[in-house]
Amino acid sequence: MSEIQLIDKTFVPFISEGEIQDGVSKLAQTINQEYQGKHIVFVAILNGAFMFAADLLKKITVDCEITFVKVSSYKGTGSTGRVDELIGLTTSLVDKDVIILEDIVDTGVTMDKIHKIIELQMPNSLKICTLLYKKEAHEGRVKPDYVAFEIENRFVVGYGLDYNETGRNLSEILQIKE
Ligand code: IMP
Ligand code: MG
Repeated sequence: MSEIQLIDKTFVPFISEGEIQDGVSKLAQTINQEYQGKHIVFVAILNGAFMFAADLLKKITVDCEITFVKVSSYKGTGSTGRVDELIGLTTSLVDKDVIILEDIVDTGVTMDKIHKIIELQMPNSLKICTLLYKKEAHEGRVKPDYVAFEIENRFVVGYGLDYNETGRNLSEILQIKE
């Protein structure tokens, strides 16, 4: 694929479809080895992680299940300020071996919130698996355990990731042209 235009920005090829699939396969291999004989509960974060989750799960050979959640932030009543919740988290994670699936960890603010909420459910173990990690931009408390690609701090789209909701359908990852 060559350059593409999304709304007012131009994007150039960055990680090809083949490279993504290789990266996802390597993650799956690692997880398959480390979770041998266990039952994994994957918690995929919508919307961005939908494509990554689908491809990764096809390569998981360990007994597993998956649930999809959305992060929502709303104004709580009284003096509590902002409250974060995971919409759709109906499965009990108590004593489960949980892996969070995310498309990208940037500053880490979002992942810190998600991790905190899931930790409260008292899982047996809790790990974070992300397709992309902007390591230099990261200021969070929790670091991802499984990363397919560490990338520089530039905006990317495709393979689930969006620019104002466009570009999620692309089968490769493109980087903003500056
Ligand atoms: P964080 O809280 O700064 O780690 O940002 C996390 C969220 O910002 C991700 O779940 C994405 O939705 C979005 N995001 C961060 N970087 C990018 C990017 O390069 N492209 C598309 N979305 C991004
Ligand atoms: Mg996201």
